[in-house]
Amino acid sequence: MIGYNTLGVHILSTGSAVPDLSITNETLSTLVNTSDKWISTRTGIKERRVLPKEQSIIDLAKNASLEAINRGLLEPNDLDLIILATSSQNDLFGSASQLQAAIGANHAAAFDLTAACSGFIISLITASQFIQTGSYKNILVVGADILSRWVDWSDRSTCILFGDGAGAAIVQKNYKNDLLSFKLNTKGSQANQLSILYKINKQNIKIHKSIPFMHGQYEYLKMNGKEVYKFAVSQVPQSIQECLKLANLSTNDISWLILHQANQRILEAVAEKLSIPQDKMISNISKYGNTSAASIPIALHEVFKQGKICNGDIVVIAGFGAGLTWGTTIIQWNALE
Ligand code: ACO
Repeated sequence: MIGYNTLGVHILSTGSAVPDLSITNETLSTLVNTSDKWISTRTGIKERRVLPKEQSIIDLAKNASLEAINRGLLEPNDLDLIILATSSQNDLFGSASQLQAAIGANHAAAFDLTAACSGFIISLITASQFIQTGSYKNILVVGADILSRWVDWSDRSTCILFGDGAGAAIVQKNYKNDLLSFKLNTKGSQANQLSILYKINKQNIKIHKSIPFMHGQYEYLKMNGKEVYKFAVSQVPQSIQECLKLANLSTNDISWLILHQANQRILEAVAEKLSIPQDKMISNISKYGNTSAASIPIALHEVFKQGKICNGDIVVIAGFGAGLTWGTTIIQWNALE
């Protein structure tokens, strides 16, 4: 939690990418015992995108990144750092280096940041620290997830929620500061509410000279939907209030509310608790479902592309998810002069 008066942070440009393949609720209801009516009314989701098997998360992240780089009128070699927020990386040692190679950002350091649906917001704040210490000028922050490869497609309580996608933003050093405040939280005691656990496979334990040598694998995504719902609806408004206070603002000052797109009911409940009119709340969940770390940058890109964010607008961005983690930042977006 901090207020700023040092070097300025500016969101220069954004990009996004989603797979072409769309799976509608109607199609899903031929796979599991569900219906368009149940999914739409409980979640607001109508369809989600799923990455075909011949493509990887890096393909999505690359397309989103190149769009952000092009829109920012930069070259890949202008980047100093890449932070890839993902929980579905294709290499446990990190996928950001693959992204660095794919976009040809030869001068950039690169690392992964794993924090599920809070990954983009935490990465954005991390990037801003590097800028505010004067270490770096241009940072690419990417949120990308392909949870379609981690859900159990026979579990109707989870598989209906998630979709694949990537979103990117270039965070740049500027003389004006757009980032007014932030607040990040973790409640590790509740980690079991939403997880993808690694389990040792008992059949694969080999005892040699009384030493156990073992091997395992990841389980499917597991979630206690009701608890995650209650957590989001109680913690996110509080986090937003605290951030507004830090920035000496009130809910009336908010131009746009961009929340992690987890469930339409969560979005509406948060806006209602804060008495923020629904038309200030950005929602695209009907088209993409919950794209985890990608959902906020995809939504941010859409509002920039639609020209909704104007000079001086106050944009509240909040993420929440596994960990349990949650975080908010308040941006006053200043057009470059
Ligand atoms: N179709 C039809 N029926 C279903 C489905 C389905 N897809 N899924 C569950 N049901 C049934 C249940 O079996 C249950 O039936 P029962 O009453 O006979 O037992 C009934 O519907 C109600 O189930 P609930 O789980 O109580 O439904 P709820 O209203 O809580 O909605 C949901 C479930 C949509 C998952 C909700 O809890 C939710 O959105 N939670 C938040 C989830 C979330 O945001 N997770 C992501 C966080 S971000 C991250 O980090 C990945």
